[in-house]
Amino acid sequence: MAPSTTADTLRRRYGEGAPPPQLAWSETLELLLNHRSVRAYTPAPLPDGTLEAIVAAAQSAATSSNLQAWSVVAVADQERKARLAELAGNQAHIRVAPLFLVWLADLSRLARVAAQRELPHAGLDYTELLLVAVIDAALAAQNAVVAAEALGLGTVYIGALRNHPLEVAAELRLPPRALPVFGLCVGWPDPAKPAAVKPRLPQATVLHHEVYSVAAEGAAVADYNATMAAFYAAQQQRVQGDWAQHSAKRVAGPQALSGRETLREALRGLGFELR
Ligand SMILES: Cc1cc2nc3c(=O)[nH]c(=O)nc-3n(C[C@H](O)[C@H](O)[C@H](O)COP(=O)(O)O)c2cc1C
Repeated sequence: MAPSTTADTLRRRYGEGAPPPQLAWSETLELLLNHRSVRAYTPAPLPDGTLEAIVAAAQSAATSSNLQAWSVVAVADQERKARLAELAGNQAHIRVAPLFLVWLADLSRLARVAAQRELPHAGLDYTELLLVAVIDAALAAQNAVVAAEALGLGTVYIGALRNHPLEVAAELRLPPRALPVFGLCVGWPDPAKPAAVKPRLPQATVLHHEVYSVAAEGAAVADYNATMAAFYAAQQQRVQGDWAQHSAKRVAGPQALSGRETLREALRGLGFELR
């Protein structure tokens, strides 16, 4: 395939409302802007050293106060993947991907480390520390995604792993104070079912200069709705309406949260006090 031009990359990412192609550019930017979630994989295994390379990239992410308050469970066992798939809305790609990574907001290690020195660690019981751990896990996981894509692999996050966090924790034998934040399927993209780059909102909706402004939002979101309606149609996705309709449906009420509306109670069950 001929290398795509910057303008083509931007058009795929933004549709017709793409920013001008004179913006700063690099190979890394090309990789980042070509991201797409991959949900179809070949059965090919991952070469030795792939998992370790991905985790090294994950560990290279910035981490709040160097606390490194995350862990990851690498699941390759077919039966365990099948059980996790069931807990995550029966998503078939979890079964097919050779590797399923479960990213944890993990405050358990800090509790053990402090306890071993007989040092107090009641700060772990505050919501702030859970937030720190979730942010750390997300930053690490996204570095892993970029690393996997740099190796030619495809990935898709699995937030549905939070549908049944207690059952997932039991399956993975997690200690108290470890929350499965999301899963990540990793595998070789099936060339017979290529994934498309999904357009994003125009920059005018997410980029604010100096102070927050919604002045350009109405027109920009209207443009994006048109772009996404065309994208859904081209991909033959059974999404009703446009982005606004699709997104509003996702936040309509607790019934739209697929079991995650009880997450606060589940967090307590996992050992997070949330003071
Ligand atoms: C935290 C998180 C959770 C997600 N959970 C799921 C999921 O459970 N199943 C799925 O198929 N995709 C999931 N996705 C993928 C999103 O649907 C996808 O990133 C989004 O539609 C944008 O598409 P793109 O990644 O191809 O650009 C998740 C993404 C994120 C960031």
